[in-house]
Amino acid sequence: MNFEDLIQDVYQKIKEIDDKGNLASYIPELKNVDSESFGVHISTIDNFNFGVGNCYEKFSIQSIAKVFALSLAYSILGEKLWERVKVEPSGTAFNSLIQLEVENGIPRNPFINAGALVVSDILLSNLNNPKEDFLNFVKSLSNCSEICYSNRIATSEKNVGYRNVALCNFIKAFGNIKNKPSDVLDFYFNLCSLETNCEELSKLFLFLANDGFTLEDNKQILTKSQAKRINALMQTCGFYDESGEFAFKVGLPGKSGVGGGIVAVHPKQYTIAVWSPKLNEKGNSYKGMRFLEEFTTKSELSIF
Ligand code: DON
Repeated sequence: MNFEDLIQDVYQKIKEIDDKGNLASYIPELKNVDSESFGVHISTIDNFNFGVGNCYEKFSIQSIAKVFALSLAYSILGEKLWERVKVEPSGTAFNSLIQLEVENGIPRNPFINAGALVVSDILLSNLNNPKEDFLNFVKSLSNCSEICYSNRIATSEKNVGYRNVALCNFIKAFGNIKNKPSDVLDFYFNLCSLETNCEELSKLFLFLANDGFTLEDNKQILTKSQAKRINALMQTCGFYDESGEFAFKVGLPGKSGVGGGIVAVHPKQYTIAVWSPKLNEKGNSYKGMRFLEEFTTKSELSIF
């Protein structure tokens, strides 16, 4: 497969299309990006790397970081994790409160905000220096040097994050948040503020394409079965109420963020990160979804 030609072709085609999306506006700082930015980077498990466009420019990865938080919490708690958060698609928006009331504060899955807040609470209870230890964990996934928190983005979200404050307090009322809600929210806003570029992002996800082992130094992050399960959750829940659409069109496990990033994983083959900040009405990158649909259709490299 000549990935270089294929990615160049699909990139040029998607770059030209009319972008029907809009920048995320509910976090003020996310509006301060060039809305025409568009980058793609692929990393394969036989060590091929290739990127185009703005693939070396940092952006806010937002909910993509929930996959790292889940991986660390799963490696610490094992199967006990699923007593605190379920593994079913929610069919609701990422910031919805609606199911928590009837489901006793147990979030449907770890990728909606409610689930990621519970995962954050678990990390707070289990890490000595939560923010530092979490960042070191992420960096260790591919010897990444560039990834870091953005105080600017975290503060911006903290100032307006009323729905997350409501979610966290509501779950606390059911007893499924153990720490102080303000501490959980502080950790959560920071994890969402992580910034990196498409090149690093595709490398950071390689352990999920490689049975839970890092590619560079063959370090085990998760068991093979745990890696399978995280991929399954990305497949079924990674795009909230657009997860079915992403599976239907792209055919790979993936995770999106409101900064306009998407990472997709083809187990045993490759990871691909795309960044284009304008979002569709479900909060997922408009061109990112279009690019990946075209890429897996032309390459015929998807799991379905
Ligand atoms: O909590 C929030 O609303 C944001 N920090 C993250 C949401 C997000 O990225 C949803 N993904 N598409």
